Amino acid sequence: MLTPRTTTGLPAAESLQAALALIDTEARALFGQGKVADYIPALAQVQPRQFGMAVALVDGSTYQVGDAHTPFSLQSITKLFTFVLALKAIGDDVWKRVGREPSGAAFNSMVQLETEHGIPRNPFINAGALVITDILTTRYAHLDYALLGALRRLTDDPELSWNAAVAKSERDTAHRNMAMAYFMKSHGNFANPPELVLDNYCRQCATEMNCTQLAQATMFLANGGRDLGRDGRPDEQFLSADDARRVNALLLTCGAYDAAGDFAYRIGLPVKTGVGGGIVAIAPGVGTIAVWAPELDAKGNSVLGAFALERLVQLTGWNHT
Ligand code: DON
Repeated sequence: MLTPRTTTGLPAAESLQAALALIDTEARALFGQGKVADYIPALAQVQPRQFGMAVALVDGSTYQVGDAHTPFSLQSITKLFTFVLALKAIGDDVWKRVGREPSGAAFNSMVQLETEHGIPRNPFINAGALVITDILTTRYAHLDYALLGALRRLTDDPELSWNAAVAKSERDTAHRNMAMAYFMKSHGNFANPPELVLDNYCRQCATEMNCTQLAQATMFLANGGRDLGRDGRPDEQFLSADDARRVNALLLTCGAYDAAGDFAYRIGLPVKTGVGGGIVAIAPGVGTIAVWAPELDAKGNSVLGAFALERLVQLTGWNHT
């Protein structure tokens, strides 16, 4: 355990920074154990041996180690933000289009869609995220800007954007996602042309942030729905406290796909993973943790990222299960 602890229950700044330094050393010893994603050709170009980690606490302080300032492709981590936007836009009506149960299957599996009438199990598997992007495509004439606008506000970075080469690379090879979109359309669970939704989805997935930005952008989930103001911007109730609690429950049960049980066992916090190698974890009432290391395990989750989160909860006791 970290010592000494402060009266707020948060570890003292020096011990948290020391914990991050220790995790950085231990994590880097694991380089070579995973493989970068290569089914999206542009992601195969990323230098594999990188590791960054950032912690943002609800008191507004932030801590970083390693490559925490290097932007990376958020990929499926964006599904968290698009789901929140859909929930804000249409509330409980999202549940007419998508379920909220863990799938126990790979993120890009289509097997359950056939027996479950084109209704995806949850909003974080690819099929579910495509439905969410379909909902947002109907809701927003300029979805790119609605999404980027929200993310720029949450990160306080007016330059935040997607990587056009990564978006095109995924769009050119998005055959399976396109198949799922058409399949759902055949069941009446897709309102817009699949081509249009796939354009939006691939741009969304190609959004780039660094660990520090990702930790800050998800702060509202650790802070009862309230985003912390920075640089003179006031705090903002970005999502209701009730919905923030619900999103965290979904992240705990579905955020790591068929590794959700393993993540809950090892880490015990709501998480969202992405094939860019990023993972964000929410410690409600405490803060957020973003990690990035591009080498993935067989289920598409960052090897060093999962290790680093496991070590951090061991050292801080932030695991709330
Ligand atoms: O749709 C895809 O396959 C990618 N854009 C995102 C998948 C992903 O990040 C899965 N997470 N581990």
